[in-house]
Amino acid sequence: MTDADIAQLRTEFQQELARVASESDLQAIRDKYLGRKSGAVTALMKAVSTAPADLKPVLGKLANELKQELEALLAEKKALLGASKAPVGAVDISLPGRTPPIGHQHPLTIVREQIEGIFTRMGYQVLEGPEVEDDYHNFEALNMPAEHPARDMQDTLYLDGEIPGQGRPATLLRTHTSPMQIRYMETHQPPVRIIVPGKVYRRDDLDLTHTPMFQQVEGLVVGERITLADLKGTLTTFLHELFENRTQVLFRPSFFPYTEPSVEVFIGCVFCGAKGCPVCKRTGWLEILGSGMVHPRVFEAVGYDPERYTGFAFGVGIERVALLKYGVDDIRLFYENDLRFLEQFPL
Ligand code: PHE
Repeated sequence: MTDADIAQLRTEFQQELARVASESDLQAIRDKYLGRKSGAVTALMKAVSTAPADLKPVLGKLANELKQELEALLAEKKALLGASKAPVGAVDISLPGRTPPIGHQHPLTIVREQIEGIFTRMGYQVLEGPEVEDDYHNFEALNMPAEHPARDMQDTLYLDGEIPGQGRPATLLRTHTSPMQIRYMETHQPPVRIIVPGKVYRRDDLDLTHTPMFQQVEGLVVGERITLADLKGTLTTFLHELFENRTQVLFRPSFFPYTEPSVEVFIGCVFCGAKGCPVCKRTGWLEILGSGMVHPRVFEAVGYDPERYTGFAFGVGIERVALLKYGVDDIRLFYENDLRFLEQFPL
């Protein structure tokens, strides 16, 4: 037995250890080299004891070192095998992660925040008002007294309660956000520059363009020399930001009891490039909002001096903007919570 035999044994062991892939492989190689009866290293140790006396110390030392080295390598391999054999239920860190679905803003929220952003940058304050209104704020103070035919423009959902002696319900679901014009002016002095987003309700049947609940953004500006030119400039800027800068904007005379003059605002049809198509009924124009100069009667109702103050108001439908902006052809999609639809936003 020589030190070359020891080196040989080490090399063999290393080669075999490299092929070990399981606990049983490991046990086999341990038995083969370190087994008490027939282990190669055990045999080596025995051989050392019978070696010539002058070689004994050197060979003994080498054999001992080999034994310790093998034990260390076996322990190392055992730990390695244990680590890759994950216990049941453990996390397999080599699997790709599962991406949690990311929430989306609802398209109507996107549009509302966009509108709020545009007006906030123009110095407007954003407010909200009650959805349950009284007859006075929803109609009367807006120059629509009882029996006024304009009340029929909007089919009202009435709630319980009667105004004593008048036989008319006291409360209703607001049919537009305009009552907040009154509520705000009742409690604030000019100058006024507000927008009021919120839900409104009308007795409409569901169809492609109607839902009994929808959302509007009301706007109101009051000051000492506010003119129709301010209305035009403000709404043109607004629509250019909301759609695209090249959007054509058309102002046309209209009627609302609480504005005089009243103005209907159109944009060039986004579906046909203002050439004329079924959506715009071949006109090339799509109505986008109602507006006008605040009627002097409205100022009187809130105690503003109509000789001193003028102002403009507007109301824009959020669903309508979203339909046009995203080219959606059915308003009901916004309320059906179908993720296949909603997950497409923001576009
Ligand atoms: N309240 C009107 C509507 O619901 C919109 C409007 C608001 C018109 C303010 C003029 C001024 O259609």
